[in-house]
Amino acid sequence: MRIAIIGQGYVGLTIAVGAAGAGHKVVGFDVNDGLVAHLSAGQSHIEGISDSELIGFIAAGSYAASTDVSVLDGSDVIVIAVPTPLDAQRNPDLSFVHAAADLIQNNVKSPALIINESTSYPGTLRNEIATRITGVDHLYASSPERVDPGNSEWGTKNTPRLIGGLTPAAVAKARAFYRGFCDSIIEVSSPEVAEAAKIFENTFRQVNIALVNEFAQIADALGISGREVLDAAATKPYGFMPFNPGPGVGGHCIPVDPSYLAHVANQVGVPATFIKRANEVNLAMPAYVVKRVVAGAGGSINGENVVVVGVSYKSNVADTRETPAAVVIDLLREQGATVTWHDDLVGSWRGEISTPLTAHDIAVVVTKHDGVSDAAIKASKYVFDCTGTIAGADGI
Ligand SMILES: NC(=O)c1ccc[n+]([C@@H]2O[C@H](COP(=O)([O-])OP(=O)(O)OC[C@H]3O[C@@H](n4cnc5c(N)ncnc54)[C@H](O)[C@@H]3O)[C@@H](O)[C@H]2O)c1
Repeated sequence: MRIAIIGQGYVGLTIAVGAAGAGHKVVGFDVNDGLVAHLSAGQSHIEGISDSELIGFIAAGSYAASTDVSVLDGSDVIVIAVPTPLDAQRNPDLSFVHAAADLIQNNVKSPALIINESTSYPGTLRNEIATRITGVDHLYASSPERVDPGNSEWGTKNTPRLIGGLTPAAVAKARAFYRGFCDSIIEVSSPEVAEAAKIFENTFRQVNIALVNEFAQIADALGISGREVLDAAATKPYGFMPFNPGPGVGGHCIPVDPSYLAHVANQVGVPATFIKRANEVNLAMPAYVVKRVVAGAGGSINGENVVVVGVSYKSNVADTRETPAAVVIDLLREQGATVTWHDDLVGSWRGEISTPLTAHDIAVVVTKHDGVSDAAIKASKYVFDCTGTIAGADGI
């Protein structure tokens, strides 16, 4: 099949490579000229997709990146994989989804299957995409992406894929598309079910992380190790699922997607109380971390040299979107500390660059990538570890 993918970010490029590997002819369309130039030169920007893989598909003629909107017309399948952020009031911002739908409306004259993989609330495919596109008899399906960047165990191939279509023909065509590179396809009765499943999955994670973050604070105040309690609880073979406490949540998904569910919940008159509280708890974690650092360092960090280790939102990825490290660093500086950070995966961020991991007065470990040495961290006089991986260190 001839496939066009709108958006070549984490999700769009992952699907592009999956589809190219399944023998489809794929065009990755993006409005970002610089990104398209890099992709066309065979340079991948995401973990898990190597330059050589990309170069192979380009050489074989099965993948091309483009900023030319005319590549969309004549496709069998058009996948939408664009950002779905929150606006300044923390409400859903569907402007990128609308822009993608408008691109299809204005440029695609031959019928295609249009699949939305962008995460959004139930009703998005039907009301925000299909209704904006008129005059051509397209098929429409929703298949929310579940990719977990940096996860080497679960990828596009072995993570079960949900499909919900506006019509049985849309579901059948979506199945034919995905079966080439997804082992398990689960059809649900409507796009709304698929869309809601995705945001509920991430809400489940957000709420459980908040619960464990609150529990970590309770355990510390009780003078017991929260992590030891969690390990003990996790020995129960049923009815318990472990989550790890940390400095807060980051990335494009967990801090954002639950607010999409809260938005539609409010519209139908059901207050999403868990989501609101979970947001509050997770957003307060950087302040809790800094409070513990100050206490652990003897009551003041004024004038101390602090290195924050790992500024991406999770280990082994370079993604700094919504990372709690930003707030941790700002709050440490408010306390009078001189703060640098070390993260060779991120390299440069917020106009600052990663500094070598040398001995400091204080090391605060927010994220630990593979290859970062515990010994180098422990060279600092006081270590506060948010990851629970450094033996003997203070932390959460
Ligand atoms: N990153 C993840 O781990 C992940 C996982 C599952 C689902 N999702 C969801 O998938 C969607 C995409 O996320 P992402 O992480 O790939 O975002 P991203 O920011 O990495 O990539 C989005 C791309 O879309 C491009 N774009 C924006 N508007 C466009 C337009 N009108 N036409 C063409 N290209 C356009 C941007 O230039 C960018 O390259 C979001 O809804 C997100 O919530 C993300």
